[in-house]
Amino acid sequence: MKIAVLKEQADGERRVSATPETVKKFIALGATLAVETGAGETASIADAAYADAGASVGDRAATLAGADIVLGVQGPDPASLAGVAPGAWIVASLNPFAERARIEAYAAAGYEALAMEFMPRITRAQSMDILSSQSNLSGYKAVLDAAAEYGRAFPMMMTAAGTISAAKAFVMGVGVAGLQAIATARRLGAQVSATDVRAATREQIQSLGAKPIFVETIAGIEGEGTGGYAGEMSPEYQAAQAELVSGHIAKQDIVITTALIPGRAAPRLISAAQVASMKPGSVIVDLAVEQGGNVEGSVAGEVVVVNGVKIVGHRNVPSRLAADASALFSRNLYNFLNAFWDKEAGKPVLDAEIGDAVRLTHGGKIVNPRLLS
Ligand code: NAI
Repeated sequence: MKIAVLKEQADGERRVSATPETVKKFIALGATLAVETGAGETASIADAAYADAGASVGDRAATLAGADIVLGVQGPDPASLAGVAPGAWIVASLNPFAERARIEAYAAAGYEALAMEFMPRITRAQSMDILSSQSNLSGYKAVLDAAAEYGRAFPMMMTAAGTISAAKAFVMGVGVAGLQAIATARRLGAQVSATDVRAATREQIQSLGAKPIFVETIAGIEGEGTGGYAGEMSPEYQAAQAELVSGHIAKQDIVITTALIPGRAAPRLISAAQVASMKPGSVIVDLAVEQGGNVEGSVAGEVVVVNGVKIVGHRNVPSRLAADASALFSRNLYNFLNAFWDKEAGKPVLDAEIGDAVRLTHGGKIVNPRLLS
């Protein structure tokens, strides 16, 4: 069983899908590991560290020749997979809805493409969940990015020259990223408030010492929502939310938006008029910018300034913490393959609950129900 670890090719992708730690663990399972030269460089992992862990390090052709499993952070370009035989697994974050042509090419080549972002949100899969591990870091980094753009301090400071008041931070969307954003902004000394459509988040917000701001007149989503995910809200709810946010947002210094709906464009939470109501010097970080954006006027890959308000739209935020993001991502992949490792067969054998959820292609066809409906 040969596992190949590729150097990422996507623009700005600094992460890597295996670390020396996971290389050693895969070898302990009986696998052979091949790592492409320079794969870990942008995540501060030298080729020599992979070699010391027991992997062979070489060019892409040597890495891929005869590979049974190809690991990636993002889905590799199908044209760059020469030497990988039909039946091989491609295990990565495959962005299935946006990268349809790529998934079709994996199918045509006979690969079994496994999309790690389709991991079901069940207790036993928590340690395999790349969305959680990467969103947690994004939430943290979003607050640091906001702090770096903000021309003031976060905490209240009483000095001989006078008092500086604490920054007011508002977190919209309290999933994994939002919870970490609340915790980080609190640690930096901001006064934090937060909102979500899922009722279960109210207590979570309070338990982190932040103030919940919720639409009270129309019911949101009960409890956690289906599988922990939100759906699209009714026009009435959206109107009530817009009104509530309008009153609140004008008083905020920092806004972090994280709201996502799987398989759809991100919900629009902040209009241009609401941005205009904020004070000059305020900072908005739109973590959903690559899914269409929660904020009107946010631009992927840019920091836009509108009436003195900065709207930060960094792409691929986890990659901005490449070393930690790689360590967690790599463990997610290892935890996934290890959980299904069949010692006798010497390879992983998936069960239906998780296998059918993450498998996109099989036998030359797209087979995942989420891509067929
Ligand atoms: P997500 O990334 O899909 O969405 C982020 C947040 O935006 C969610 O809290 C969502 O409710 C919120 N949102 C969506 N539309 C909104 C709107 N119009 N206005 C305001 N907020 C809106 O969610 P994420 O972070 O991936 O996780 C959500 C939940 O799933 C959490 O409760 C988490 O604990 C759970 N989860 C469970 C896992 C497991 O059991 N294996 C793994 C990952 C998450």
